[in-house]
This record gives sequence, C-alpha cells and structure tokens, in this order.
Amino acid sequence: MSNAPDTKQGPDLSLGIAVSDIPASGLLRGHVGDDGVLLARVGSAYFAIGSNCTHYGGPLAEGLLDGDTVRCPWHHACFSLRTGEALRAPAIDPVASWTVEQRGEKIFVTGKVKAPPHRKPISGKMPSRIVIVGGGAAGFAAAEQSRRDGYEGSLVMLSDDADPPVDRPNLSKDYLAGVAQEEWVPLRAQDWYRDNAIELRLNTKASNIDPRAREVEIADGTRIPYERLLLATGAEPIRLDIPGASLAHVHVLRTLKDCRAIIAAAAQARRVVVIGASFIGLETAAALRSRNLDVHVVAPEKRPLEKVFGAELGDFVRSLHEEKGVVFHLENTVTAIERNKAVLKNGQTIDADFIVMGVGVRPRIQLAEQAGLKLDRGVVVNSRLETNAAGIFAAGDIARWPDRHSGESIRVEHWVVAERQGQAAARIMLGSGDHYDGVPFFWSQHYDVPINYVGHASDWDALEIEGDAHARDCVVRYRKGGKLRAVASIYRDVDSLAAEIAMERA
Ligand SMILES: Cc1cc2nc3c(=O)[nH]c(=O)nc-3n(C[C@H](O)[C@H](O)[C@H](O)COP(=O)(O)OP(=O)(O)OC[C@H]3O[C@@H](n4cnc5c(N)ncnc54)[C@H](O)[C@@H]3O)c2cc1C
Ligand code: FES
Repeated sequence: MSNAPDTKQGPDLSLGIAVSDIPASGLLRGHVGDDGVLLARVGSAYFAIGSNCTHYGGPLAEGLLDGDTVRCPWHHACFSLRTGEALRAPAIDPVASWTVEQRGEKIFVTGKVKAPPHRKPISGKMPSRIVIVGGGAAGFAAAEQSRRDGYEGSLVMLSDDADPPVDRPNLSKDYLAGVAQEEWVPLRAQDWYRDNAIELRLNTKASNIDPRAREVEIADGTRIPYERLLLATGAEPIRLDIPGASLAHVHVLRTLKDCRAIIAAAAQARRVVVIGASFIGLETAAALRSRNLDVHVVAPEKRPLEKVFGAELGDFVRSLHEEKGVVFHLENTVTAIERNKAVLKNGQTIDADFIVMGVGVRPRIQLAEQAGLKLDRGVVVNSRLETNAAGIFAAGDIARWPDRHSGESIRVEHWVVAERQGQAAARIMLGSGDHYDGVPFFWSQHYDVPINYVGHASDWDALEIEGDAHARDCVVRYRKGGKLRAVASIYRDVDSLAAEIAMERA
C-alpha cells in the first residue's frame, strides 16, 4: 500500500475518449500530462477528478459510483465528483477537480480547476468556544471539519500525547514494518494547526471537567472555558497483571512513542513474543516478521480472530501468518515474564529479547466519570453524540452510541468510525449536522492481505462464504434473524462498498 499515486495510466484524456469506451462501472482511469485522472459517467453527465485517493492512494476507478460521488475501494473514503472534496474519512484532503467537455461522441478533460472551492461559512449562531479533549482520530477529524466548514471561533485541542495527531493504524503496519516513511505518520504538520488557528496543546492532560461552569481544568490548575466540549480520549492498552509485566522490555502499542520504542527494541533483537492474537497482536507480528525477527504469538483462543470473523477466516489468518514464519501458541497464556523469556501456562518457556502485549484496550473514561457523565462500558451518547451533560459530546473509542443498523448500543474501536464521529460531532456542535448514522467500517492488514469489514455483528446465526479465503478472494456475510449484520471481504472491494451502501439505506 502506498500513498504515492501512480500516474500516466490509461488513455490521455485531454485527447478525448469515446463514450462507448467508458466501462459499465462508469469509472475510467486515465491521465492528463503527468496527472492521474478519473473520468466518471453519471447518467448523461461526465466528471473528472484526481484518480487516487488522498488517504493512501487507493485507485478510485476500482471503487464504486454512488450518485455524484465515488467511494474508494481500499478504506471507503468518499469524494465529490463535482468538486473533488473528501466527503468522508479516512480521506481528509480533496483530490483535484477537472473540467470536462463533450464533443459529439467523445469526452475531453480540458483543464484543472484552479483551487477546490472553499465551503461557505455556516450561517446561524455558532458557539464561540470549542474545546476538544483528545489528539487522536476523533479529535483531529472534529477540529479539521470545524475549520473546513467555516467555523471561526476559538478551537482548543488538548492532548496528553507528546506528538500531534498521528495515523495510528500505520503504527502496527507499514511504519512498524519499516516501509512507511516518517512523514506519513503525522496527520498534519504542526504548522497546520497554527495556520488554522487550532490551539493544539500537547503533553496537556485534562484533569477535570466542571459541567456547570462549562470549564475544563488541566493538570496545572488552569481552567479553560467552553461552550461546546468534545471528549475524544480514546482508549489505552491493557497490561496483563502478571509477574514481569512492567519490565522495561515489555511493550504496548498505542502511541508513536510506543511504536518507536518497539522499533528500537527490534533493531537489537532476534526473537519477540507477542501476547495476544487480535488485530494489534497479529499486525505487530506481521510487521516484525518483515524485520526478520523470530515471532511467537501466545493467545488463549483456539483460532485468531474467530470471535470477529468466524472459524474459516480465523483459520485463514492463522495459516497466512504461519506461512510467513509466525509460531502460534494458542489456547495458552503467558503467566510470567523474565528478562529473556516468557513463561507459559503449560510450563513451556519461550526465549524472547522483548515482548509486545496486544491484549486489548480499555476506554479512557476517567474524565467523563469524574464529570458525572452517564457511563456504560464507555460514555453513553445519543444519536447526536451528546452525553447527558449539556454542551458535552463524545466520539471515537470512548463513545457508546445507538447504532440504528444493528439495533444495539455499541462502542467500537475503529479508526474510520472515530474520524467520522469526530466529523459528525463537529457539525452537530456547529449546528449544521443533526445526527450520526454511519455504518461501522474497519480494515486490517496482514502482510499483503487486507481484510475489510462493514457493519457490526457481535454474534450471528448464519455465516455465508462466497469465494475462497485461501485464494484471497472472498466475501463473508454474517446474518442474524435473517438480517445482514456485517460483511467481511478479501480483495472484493466493490462488494464491500456495495454492502456498505445497502446497509446505509436499509
Ligand atoms: C497500533 C494501532 C493500529 C490500529 N489499526 C487500526 C486499523 O487498521 N483499522 C481500524 O479501524 N482501527 C485501527 N486502530 C484503532 C484506531 O486507531 C482507534 O479506533 C482510533 O484511534 C480511535 O480514535 P480516538 O480519537 O477515539 O482515540 P485515540 O486515537 O486513541 O486518541 C485519543 C487521544 O486522547 C488523548 N487523551 C486521552 N485522555 C486525555 C486527557 N485526559 N487529556 C488530554 N488528552 C487525553 C490521547 O493522548 C490521544 O491523543 C488501531 C489502533 C492502534 C493502536
Ligand atoms: S486509500 Fe482510499 S480510503 Fe484509504
């Protein structure tokens, strides 16, 4: 996966293309000069925008048309064909927009539109002070969306992290594997916050909220007033309560600092034990195999990811990692960690130069708890992402919201959900949005195999597989009571996008 888009693929669209040469999908990839261009047909209208998604460079021509928008095949960002604007995360930046002319039976892409049209400032009364607690996916997306939508009031973002918001999913994938460049990791350079009048305060922990006075207190006692407050404090990794868990060579992975510490440890190491066979554990295993370490994964379950994906995909994921040399110790746990080894429940020991614990996270709800907000294994919000305290909203890993699609009250730990909730919360706080209604989506990457998942199925009574996971070509549908609850897929991107759209409209 790369965010360096390929250019010059397909025909030169400035020379024109016959209408009959546009495929049935309505999407054709071509170029103008060195720029990749996507030509799209919507009914009798034609649009042209940049060919590659601004998230990781996904080829939009392999995505799906939906009205006057196109969805990216890789992680379901959505772009306006009329303006190039990124309408949905995980893409934030627009793609270029081009002018198009039809002359007889041929379509010509005639020129690049100078600058993407800026949104009009929102009309109506807006809050004068917004405070966001959290410098992660949801907090960043809320701040960015507020400014993109023309909000001109005060915007303070508090983060107890040392680094500005980062592309967290990269920390267990390409960056950890040593493939992604350092500059891909921050979501924005620090200047961007200054240029957009976002007062980003790093290393700043919010320690208290006074909902009556509408103030947030930070660790040094300073009180920051708000009219609207977004809590986006995310989650923190769990450390097993076992002897040796706090030794210096035992790592968790949440922040860029954590990731750098693992990379530094890997540079000196030959063998690693990863505790946990869920997403973080397995992605970490894959990344560290790319660095040629001997990787042992210890986990209590019978099959990796079976609870999320079912037995068949679980077996496939296991075989994929085993082919790459990962050694699994399943139905087992680590009971103690010593300087150079991990001791397992069955008495076996595994030599390890360092350990990574990927045993799950817990939502960071202490601040919400102290403020007296309603909790239920997370912060309870309504469909407007409002907590029970006036003016206080929550989004991302901490928020438990009423999911219309599953009919359940859910809290998920997905990057795209956190970003989209952040964007929705911004609009609701500004008075231009009314509710959050997204279909959950996540992706996970294991070596060169991406797994995409739309919907939410905490359990199911029917699981249907179309295709073959081992051939890296399948769709798995999870149903409950006859209703489609979720769809997982490997290299069936259009099916995944179609399922997302169908669930949105159900
Ligand atoms: C290594 C890794 C890889 C992942 N890969 C994927 C993936 O491939 N696909 C996917 O869908 N999801 C993935 N996830 C999950 C995804 O990153 C999270 O769901 C997402 O980051 C949640 O966003 P958030 O804004 O709720 O929380 P976070 O991104 O965790 O941000 C929370 C922020 O709040 C700050 N904070 C917390 N408490 C306070 C306080 N009291 N005061 C000030 N600041 C505070 C933290 O410092 C942090 O900046 C991954 C997670 C990790 C760790
Ligand atoms: S590459 Fe397009 S959404 Fe990720």
